Amino acid sequence: MPASTLDIHLTDEDLTTALRSDAGLGLTASPKWLPPKWFYDARGSELFEQITALPEYYPTRTERALLARVVDEIARTAQAEVLVELGAGSAVKTRLLLTALSAHSPLQSYVPQDVSSSALRATVDEVAAEFPWLGVHGVVSDFTGTLDTLPRGGRRMIAFLGGTIGNLVPAERAEFLAAIHRVLEPGELVLLGAGLVTDPEVLVPAYADAAGVTAEFNRNVLHVLNSRLGADFVPEKFRHIAVWDPAREWIEMRLEASAEMTVTVAELGLTVRFAAGEQMRTEISAKFRIDGLDAELTAAGFATRQVWTDPDDRFALVLAERR
Ligand code: SAH
Ligand code: AVI
Repeated sequence: MPASTLDIHLTDEDLTTALRSDAGLGLTASPKWLPPKWFYDARGSELFEQITALPEYYPTRTERALLARVVDEIARTAQAEVLVELGAGSAVKTRLLLTALSAHSPLQSYVPQDVSSSALRATVDEVAAEFPWLGVHGVVSDFTGTLDTLPRGGRRMIAFLGGTIGNLVPAERAEFLAAIHRVLEPGELVLLGAGLVTDPEVLVPAYADAAGVTAEFNRNVLHVLNSRLGADFVPEKFRHIAVWDPAREWIEMRLEASAEMTVTVAELGLTVRFAAGEQMRTEISAKFRIDGLDAELTAAGFATRQVWTDPDDRFALVLAERR
């Protein structure tokens, strides 16, 4: 049985250093903002798993059904020896891909990557037990940073599922696709899962569920600031907001201060004032059009090989080749 490994390229100390920098910038900006990667400590990863099962949150089940339909075709085309998955999380849907790639491709190893070490450790152990013929090599790192720590060798396919590409702003997306282009060899593949522009009546509830799980996920960034940087946010004093921006075609999640308040971030020696009703951006979730995705991939040096969508055109899987 091949050994499974977990490489930590982002230690607890590294995370604290990075959060100091992000919080120092974002909490002193006007308007205030924080990058979405800070949702994902152990509790945040757990809350995201709960979101995927909510009746309003269609992306996960839509992508899963689509993947189930086309995964054999993907596997036959890919002929991958190594599946690298960025932002793998619990990799629930990836099991479909691993099964098909094992049947139709010469798959030898799976390399899940994530910023959340707790989620990744569980994924490595579970996948290694379920697919004992595969080498499973987890990488804890930040996919907006260097991708050089990903293993080389073997014909690779990089999967980036769930629509996580939409959590990057356009400039970050361009840089991210360029970084993937740099680590891949000509002919290697990317499999991208992306949410599509759809009816705001469907979109908004997916980010503002009745049970309040997304609200708790959103407020988790405040718990992370409290525990990592000794801040004294009272998360319950912030209201969860999800709005559809029709011009930029993204959902924006924000936290709104319910009253005027002053928050101290001890580790930064920083005092932050919030006006009553002030909103802080915590995430964007961009939705795409096929033409736009194709243009972004082309600009980064990829050629779109095939696109599949679900029957309601809410989600796309795009297979693209590094030129
Ligand atoms: N791919 C899974 C999980 C999506 S949730 C799915 O399709 O369901 C987004 C995942 O990306 C989380 O596991 C989160 O920890 C991870 N993530 C978010 N920002 C990241 C970053 N900058 N670097 C690495 N992983 C990140
Ligand atoms: C991980 N990512 C694709 C999710 C999304 O839909 O943008 C994160 C999320 N935010 C709120 N709910 C889910």
